[in-house]
Amino acid sequence: MRIGIFDSGIGGLTTLVACLRYLPDEEYFFFADNANAPYGDRDPGQVRYWTEKAYEQFLAKSVDAVVLACNSATSAAAGTLREHSRKVPVIGIEPAIKKALAAGDGRILLLATELTARGQKLQKLLQGLPGGTDRVDVLACPGLAEIVERQDHQWRKQAGQYWQQHVARAIGAEIRGIVLGCTHYCWLVGDIEQWTGSGCQVFDGNDGVARQLYRQVMGREAPLPGKLPARVRLHFSFSDIAQEKKSLVVRLLASHGMTVEDTCMETDPGPCMRLAR
Ligand code: DGL
Repeated sequence: MRIGIFDSGIGGLTTLVACLRYLPDEEYFFFADNANAPYGDRDPGQVRYWTEKAYEQFLAKSVDAVVLACNSATSAAAGTLREHSRKVPVIGIEPAIKKALAAGDGRILLLATELTARGQKLQKLLQGLPGGTDRVDVLACPGLAEIVERQDHQWRKQAGQYWQQHVARAIGAEIRGIVLGCTHYCWLVGDIEQWTGSGCQVFDGNDGVARQLYRQVMGREAPLPGKLPARVRLHFSFSDIAQEKKSLVVRLLASHGMTVEDTCMETDPGPCMRLAR
């Protein structure tokens, strides 16, 4: 089976990792539109256009399902994509607010991009959940995804500074859960757990997406997550600085103990995956 995974950058790799726990042997096509990142700062109509383009390019690769491993792209485009393009299923990511609310009492802090935080999709989600409108605080974190995307020797320190300056003050004693509403933030899970301490649980939507993907392509409920495979069948491309990103992808997957099968590597965004702009 062939699965397309889309994000504006490396955040989507955290979704890929979650999918590999359920579907370790499939062939994955990962595409990051980093030339147009950060999606979270863009106009939703523009993000919808780029996401639809990416979807079409995935279709050209004969994928069986497309995962929007980007909350911003899901917010802007999942609805219209599902309405108009019925060729292969589109699985979008949603902030794991339901899970966070169900985990216990207290308030929840959702961290997301501006686009996701302001989007109608989030409003609908909050209105549809008991406690969604009165127990959830939403904090937009412009700039945080870019820090994570850099992955240079400074990025963790800078993310820590960002946290202290921008996020820490929003975490009062009544906050019991933090929901990561942007896949980029998932590269910071360990750090965030440390910064917030044990009274606060951290949630993200990656497991939910992976289970939904499994359901869609296998036609049955997902089993318990398994071990990550040692080797991944992965084609990947980026719309900008692809060579630089090649070693980064290999390094990030290696941090989860996985090797990318060389024969499957597609480091240059070929004409097939390049976005028409
Ligand atoms: N990873 C994307 C998300 O989940 C956003 C990053 C960006 O702003 O480009 O929303």
